[in-house]
Amino acid sequence: MKLWGGRFTKSTDSFTDHFHSSISFDSRMYKQDILGSCAHADMLGKQGIISKDDAELIHKTLLEILADIEAGKVTFDEQAEDIHMNIETILIQRIGDVGKRLHTGRSRNDQVALDIRMYLKSEITDIKLLVKKLIAELNQIAKDNMDVIMPGYTHLQNAQPVTLAHHVLAYAEMFKRDYDRLSDTYKRTNVMPLGSGALATTTYPLDRQAVCDALGFDSITLNSMDGVSDRDFVIELLSTLSILMMHLSRFCEEIVLWSNQQFRFIELDDAYSTGSSIMPQKKNPDMAELIRGKTGRVYGHLMAMLTTMKGLPLAYNKDMQEDKEGVFDAVDTLKMCLPVFTNMVKTMTVNRDNMYKAAKGGFMNATDAADWLVKHGVPFRDAHAIIGHLVLYCIEHNKSLDELTLDEYKAASEVFDETIFDAISLETCVNSRKVEGGPSKDYIQKLIKLNDEYLASLK
Ligand code: ARG
Repeated sequence: MKLWGGRFTKSTDSFTDHFHSSISFDSRMYKQDILGSCAHADMLGKQGIISKDDAELIHKTLLEILADIEAGKVTFDEQAEDIHMNIETILIQRIGDVGKRLHTGRSRNDQVALDIRMYLKSEITDIKLLVKKLIAELNQIAKDNMDVIMPGYTHLQNAQPVTLAHHVLAYAEMFKRDYDRLSDTYKRTNVMPLGSGALATTTYPLDRQAVCDALGFDSITLNSMDGVSDRDFVIELLSTLSILMMHLSRFCEEIVLWSNQQFRFIELDDAYSTGSSIMPQKKNPDMAELIRGKTGRVYGHLMAMLTTMKGLPLAYNKDMQEDKEGVFDAVDTLKMCLPVFTNMVKTMTVNRDNMYKAAKGGFMNATDAADWLVKHGVPFRDAHAIIGHLVLYCIEHNKSLDELTLDEYKAASEVFDETIFDAISLETCVNSRKVEGGPSKDYIQKLIKLNDEYLASLK
């Protein structure tokens, strides 16, 4: 008979059992379920709600069940619906009537709310560590590539020269914000709902704070109806993970572009590339593409959960069982994508000559040429027009700005002298942009140091 079967005269249809059972996916919360039950049983014993001996036997047996699950000795049963009732059923099989006392003053509604919070707290901690490793790797790439000049783009058209260090540290900033968002999500997940009961607490004198402390939560939920029906933290995590995937995906798009034959800015390591079954010459950036592709499913889980929750009246509704598969998949996806991505960028080879050559084309020093005029007394709008004409002249004569002679410069404006050539070298263009946030080596060195301090400050 089902644990809740008392008021039923018929058993559930077997296909229905399969339909509403969640054990196939919520079994991964077995540890959280057991530790939560141990804390609950201890508290029941201390409060005199059940006897101390019963509490101890329940606690001890639950830990034995935990060890047996981890040793692969336990098979879960779809008939027992979910992880909560599977473990309770096993407990009762092992210690009979004593086991039947565990669920006193508790509902599966607050139990599942507790388990998922505990489970996600541990996943957030794991993901934070992976993000930290990625930031550290990007900072290392920046250290190694402070002098590697490459084109900076707007509209994916050559704009102004930057360095590879400047480019990858832009992503480091994004991942620093992602790390922060994960910490923030953790804070709101770290609230203990047990004691909320089905929706209106219970008449037993529970000590919720004791359970909260035993399980290492920050505080207890303050309204039992909210306690059982809040899934904001799931949505918040999905949103945080979606933004994180979006950042990975943008970078992956650049990796794909940079390894293309028309760019050849980087070469991915063989360990992070694949070949073609028909074209012998191919080396494809599959890992970058796959991470870009997986971004869609994480966004999908966010939309699914927002939609699941939008019409739900208070308090618990079975719809909320749908919270798990999506967020589990999102967490699994990030735990795969982050290390693959980190190792992919760690092992890529940078073709600095190709980056430099690409930065030479497309008149990326035109702004600097105009700025040279401004610094020699020409109003900016006039300078813009003079250089615009010079660029046109260069296009017609198939030259770059640094290939023009001083006479050609002087024909455009009398103000020019030979110092223009140094002013428009790519190195000057990059390193004279000393403004905070810019590509100059002086500033990038400061930022790398700030990032090292930031990384050291993370627990
Ligand atoms: N498996 C359920 C879930 O994930 C547990 C809570 C069930 N509660 C209930 N009243 N049916 O939501």
